[in-house]
Amino acid sequence: MKKVLVALLVVLVILQFFQIDKTNPEFDANQDFLKIHETPTEIASTIKAACYDCHSNQSVYPWYTNIQPVGWFVKNHIEEGKEHLNFSEFGTYTPKKQAHKLEECYELIEKGEMPLSSYTIIHKEAVLTEAQQAELISYFKDVEKVINSNSSPD
Ligand code: HEC
Repeated sequence: MKKVLVALLVVLVILQFFQIDKTNPEFDANQDFLKIHETPTEIASTIKAACYDCHSNQSVYPWYTNIQPVGWFVKNHIEEGKEHLNFSEFGTYTPKKQAHKLEECYELIEKGEMPLSSYTIIHKEAVLTEAQQAELISYFKDVEKVINSNSSPD
């Protein structure tokens, strides 16, 4: 038993040599979703608190991401989240893609799938009240309409 514990400890120590890269990629602030649509401050801060750690180039890495394998888990969510949707690069998407992403945003909020529950367990500030959910859903729908009406049908 003692040998197993020692071996486990050694493995944990070795893992700490493989730290994650916490640098955020550079980005053009003018392509940011909240900036482009001049999102009202209150809604903007809800979106920032609930979505931006995983869906923007402004991720904040908490201290425990210095501990592996926790950091790998968090980094993985951020990489995957940004691959699907990056609010910092929103303006570079085609109007069609923008509208589609917003549709997914309100659908996933409606279903309670975003923000991820593994995130809200720790980040209590990201837990959306029913009122905030409703607010975000109607906001994303409004912006989707604006984008659709601005872009010519193809
Ligand atoms: C802890 C990280 C995390 C947070 C916080 C988070 N997401 Fe996600 N999101 C992910 C990951 C990972 C995926 C991809 C895998 C999946 O669908 O579960 C994803 C997928 C999505 C997708 C799907 C895009 C596609 O192309 O399929 C949308 C839309 C989305 N998130 C919107 C949001 C919104 C809106 C918020 C805030 C209310 C939010 N997410 C908060 C990690 C996160």
